[in-house]
Amino acid sequence: MSRNIQGKITVPGVRARKGAPERLVVLTAYDHPTARALDQAGVDILLVGDSLGMVVLGHDTTLPVTLEVMLHHAAAVARARPRALVVADMPFLSYHTGPADAVRNAGRFLQEAGAEAVKIEGGRGRADIVRAFVAADIPVMGHIGLTPQSVNTLGGYRVQGKSLSQVDALLADALALEEAGVFSIVLEGMPAKVGGLVTRAVSVPTIGIGAGPDCDGQVLVTHDLLGFTSTAPARFVRRYADLNAAVTEAARRFAEDVRGGNYPSERESYPAPPEIEAELSRRLAPDDVTEPRR
Ligand code: KIV
Repeated sequence: MSRNIQGKITVPGVRARKGAPERLVVLTAYDHPTARALDQAGVDILLVGDSLGMVVLGHDTTLPVTLEVMLHHAAAVARARPRALVVADMPFLSYHTGPADAVRNAGRFLQEAGAEAVKIEGGRGRADIVRAFVAADIPVMGHIGLTPQSVNTLGGYRVQGKSLSQVDALLADALALEEAGVFSIVLEGMPAKVGGLVTRAVSVPTIGIGAGPDCDGQVLVTHDLLGFTSTAPARFVRRYADLNAAVTEAARRFAEDVRGGNYPSERESYPAPPEIEAELSRRLAPDDVTEPRR
């Protein structure tokens, strides 16, 4: 099977988009059909986010998501063979126990799942992990600000960078990640001006989510964009569809058709071969119409 890599988005290609007038477009994908549809729309990066723990698996946080679950979903996305770059989120505890474990786990995303890069959360404290990835030829995206895997440390999903000392800490985190070798950085949950300040400070593209319009790209959780979640959207979410309503309406109509005996129709049923059709009709004919159907 040949792979059409024409126009394929690569890690150096993403890095080269720093400061480009056309912003990077990033969406989450957790399965094959969604990956295909988003790729056909021209999305630049498909992020197999650990947000899948919340929007697909029904957990309250991303913390229960395991390495095996992430590998399973990353492989489904990569099998779509998208033009977009496939980046897989490393889940909680998969890179927290030292560089050797982190490299071994990250390598599985490239070797087994077919992802092209990984993403980890955290700033200065993760610089040694980033360096180990770079040394192992594993491209890595950073993620600072509101980092959901730190929900317990942060005391909730709170916007970061609301004091000047926090702003300085975010800048130090971004610069440490850049120096360690990330090819881009997600900026999550910070005032727009702070997103702009961090973006100006680093030479790699920033990808914002709730970080204002001045980042080099924007990412949303696809289920938020599609209106396919059970919780109220965050302030930064713009909904482009109401999939909750569309899915419920489709299921309601199916139920109506089944209960009303209108599904399946003859066209939706397989005919028997002509040579046994007559005999099957004879056997189906009730010889005692009062006998209850079993
Ligand atoms: O897990 C995820 O979907 C993410 C994005 C929100 C950036 O990390």
